[in-house]
Amino acid sequence: MRHITEILHDFESFLLSQAPKIPSFHQHYEKAVWEMVQNGGKRFRPALVFSILNALAPQLIKNAFLPALSIECIHTYSLIHDDLPCMDNATLRRGHPTLHTKYGQTLALLVGDGLNTYAFALLAKAKLDPQVKLSLIESLSINAGIGGMVLGQMLDCEFENQTLAIEQLKTIHINKTAKLIATSLEFGAIIANADSKLRKALYDFGLNLGVYFQLRDDIIDVCQDSSQAGKTTQNDSHKNSYVNLLGLEGARVEFHKQRQSLQNELENFESCIAQSLSMLLENYFKDIT
Ligand code: IPE
Ligand code: IPE
Ligand code: MG
Ligand code: MG
Ligand code: MG
Repeated sequence: MRHITEILHDFESFLLSQAPKIPSFHQHYEKAVWEMVQNGGKRFRPALVFSILNALAPQLIKNAFLPALSIECIHTYSLIHDDLPCMDNATLRRGHPTLHTKYGQTLALLVGDGLNTYAFALLAKAKLDPQVKLSLIESLSINAGIGGMVLGQMLDCEFENQTLAIEQLKTIHINKTAKLIATSLEFGAIIANADSKLRKALYDFGLNLGVYFQLRDDIIDVCQDSSQAGKTTQNDSHKNSYVNLLGLEGARVEFHKQRQSLQNELENFESCIAQSLSMLLENYFKDIT
């Protein structure tokens, strides 16, 4: 089994090669469209796609580069919009000034919109069976869209300054973050032609992993400074977050509980999947300092 960092290294070169060519008489547009995609980030969602293929169908990893990039485009669009003044109002992202800080809100809004649709152009181009591509399109559009990430972001912003119940917070985290993470694992299953039982098990594991990922992110917001996190932190004081609802210690207890439960769940998968996901998740299972 290849190491995930090696695959991610190849994927990074691929991503740079995929910068869209959009010549026009706009001064910044063409560069700005790919700038935040290129600026880095952990590539966690692509890595989830590759982890499943690394276990089930390594010969298809290259064919999964375009689908993985399509998820990364949707994720990057969600970050560009998330940072806008009308949402979280943040100035730093992926170690760089946010797009709206550099180029203005109009351009940032439109680049986000552009990446949202470009994602589906990338999917359409993938070297995969048409039926497989249709399943990918369905999964991504449903989970990222009106009943998924967009809904989660709406609830997150709407209920700032109002304390929600922990179950409501979980609903927000499932939608704004976990569904895209679940889709990433589902992409691996669909491309590998896994049976529906495994596909569902990976999707469900992804939902739990996504809630954990956002809980971890809520702890990062209070525990890390902006230079450590590469993004604006100490920015959630008016939000519903695990830290605000349970206190930092309470959030840490929940973090450990959810980590343990994910580790237990991993053992229910066949060993190649458990091994491949453990290799990736090792870094994400460390304590936040
Ligand atoms: C940040 O996602 C937004 C959340 C869903 C918490 P990541 O932590 O994956 O951000 P990048 O891609 O590494 O920049
Ligand atoms: C964002 O959650 C989730 C998205 C869908 C972008 P956050 O608002 O907590 O993400 P960060 O902390 O700004 O990266
Ligand atoms: Mg947000
Ligand atoms: Mg934010
Ligand atoms: Mg956050």
